[in-house]
Amino acid sequence: MLDAKVDKKQLNWADLGFQYVKTDSRFSAVHENGSWSNGSLLNSEIIAVHEGAPALHYAQQCFEGMKAQTAPDGRVLLFRPDLNSERFNLAASRLLMPEVPAEMFMSAVEETVRANYAWIPPYGSGASLYVRPMLIGVGENLGLKPAQQFEFRVFVSPVGPYYKSAGLAVISLAVSEMDRAAPSGTGSFKIGANYAGGLLATRRAQELGANEALYLDSAERRYIDEAGSANIIIATNSGCFVSPKSRAILPSITRRSIMTLARDELNLQTEDRPIDLRAEFDQFEEMAACGTAAVLSPVGRIWFDEDWHNIYQDGQTVGPVMQELYDLLVGIQKGEVGDQYGWLHEVSI
Ligand SMILES: Cc1ncc(COP(=O)(O)O)c(C=O)c1O
Repeated sequence: MLDAKVDKKQLNWADLGFQYVKTDSRFSAVHENGSWSNGSLLNSEIIAVHEGAPALHYAQQCFEGMKAQTAPDGRVLLFRPDLNSERFNLAASRLLMPEVPAEMFMSAVEETVRANYAWIPPYGSGASLYVRPMLIGVGENLGLKPAQQFEFRVFVSPVGPYYKSAGLAVISLAVSEMDRAAPSGTGSFKIGANYAGGLLATRRAQELGANEALYLDSAERRYIDEAGSANIIIATNSGCFVSPKSRAILPSITRRSIMTLARDELNLQTEDRPIDLRAEFDQFEEMAACGTAAVLSPVGRIWFDEDWHNIYQDGQTVGPVMQELYDLLVGIQKGEVGDQYGWLHEVSI
């Protein structure tokens, strides 16, 4: 048990972007000969791995991302970490890596957050503590086969908003000419292999003046898949609230939560279904990208077919549906409004 009065670091919390900040401790455990070590907290942020490690050559690795936030009463809250644990193990199994038992995952996350209490941004600072669990195939294994040893690591970093313009400032997306994931590929798993290929797509989107790439389905290039690091949600002009259904997208925990709020709190008719960008664009009343990092970021315009297509009119920052959902979601995550869904997980300090 730590002294909860440990002084917070003297950071300009409000100026933080989404960048790595070295904190005091990280958790590490190793899997060898069929079992996990107990694991412990380490000081060094450096991992020494063999040059023949499968994580380096064949991307045998997966990761997760979640945030710890400080509530008005000082409690430290994680948002639905059980779903991160579940998704982590789906990715591990897909890549022939050992699962991390749910209890081990949760205690590693809690231990790392607790050990870095001084780095958890205070309530009202606009920042949060990003938690990054990861699993990598280590040890020498040059042939294309699964690693014999694995490291499970959890580190944390205080972060500010993902998109430079904070809060609910409108972002723009550019439809990528490159595909992110094949229909029966690995797009629904949070694995590094999906992201390296997206770096160039993001750069191209940014060259067009967009914040991020928007991917269409790779079979027909018609249906919206997702943005580079966020799922898509749309309020239509017929009062429906829809999100793309696709086997190739990451099942966002934020999106699943927002769909529940839209249905149960805003009484909207919600649906996960394929969304044909060109055929349905005229019916988009409001659109947003959502995820742990993006939270809920309204999308003001999209680049496709060699032109910008506006959703929000110039000067409009956000529509009423997205504003209400943002307030509800962030209110729950920060412990400001009641958590009637049981989504919060308190980390004892
Ligand atoms: C490709 C991709 N899609 C969607 C998301 C959003 O998922 P979540 O809401 O679980 O953070 C992320 C970020 O985690 C992502 O990297």
